[in-house]
Amino acid sequence: MDLQVHRFSSIDSTNAYCKRNAESLGDFCFVWALEQTAGKGREQREWVSPKGENLLFSILIKGQDLLKKKEKLSLFAAMGVASFLRDELALEGVAVKWPNDVYIKGKKAAGILLEGQLPSYLVIGIGLNVNQASFKGQYRVVPTSVFIETGKQVDLASLSEKLFLFLHDFLSKKEEARILEDYPSFDYLKDKRISLFENGSEIKGIAQGIDGDFSLLLQTKAGLKSIHSGEVITLLG
Ligand code: BTN
Repeated sequence: MDLQVHRFSSIDSTNAYCKRNAESLGDFCFVWALEQTAGKGREQREWVSPKGENLLFSILIKGQDLLKKKEKLSLFAAMGVASFLRDELALEGVAVKWPNDVYIKGKKAAGILLEGQLPSYLVIGIGLNVNQASFKGQYRVVPTSVFIETGKQVDLASLSEKLFLFLHDFLSKKEEARILEDYPSFDYLKDKRISLFENGSEIKGIAQGIDGDFSLLLQTKAGLKSIHSGEVITLLG
């Protein structure tokens, strides 16, 4: 199958490129770069990655079927990346931290930033740490990479081709019921005590998986609460 792929040696941000060119780029276009000079993370953070070491890419979504699933799209993308790492690269200890991070053995390997302008388009931006051997500086969550976990360097070009095809099929064809079924085997938060903010107020509880709408279920003192996407989650000891 022919996927529309735009590759850059250096760019400000693949998400920003997709947003600037959303009108002319096709649905499901993959934009990837070896380097971003203004890579963006969630909550106005930077996403810094040494040139040519990791996968930095965005997928432009314009089809109404997926646009309608906006609330679930980050989680679907995280599940897609996690399934790829586990099922195609045979990595162990792969997990999804609801709603949008991919972990390997308790450390963050990939992050997802969903942006866009409904009803026209959404951009799923994904940073997957692949060949980076060490991470200097301060991180909220300890980072890791495929190399750190396996001791093997991976060819970025062939990895990207496989991952793009995999994510295309995962996002466009995988039934929600199957994703829901797979979720427990990736659930990083299950039974962990967490705190998060909903409408400005803090809620604490024990994570109990997700419901049929892919919302997080939290056992609180006041009972079982269903949490929609987007909140910051802190693990409590
Ligand atoms: C996070 O904070 O965990 C989300 C990080 C998302 C980073 C990716 S890298 C490719 C795409 N372009 C960006 O500027 N950000 C996303």
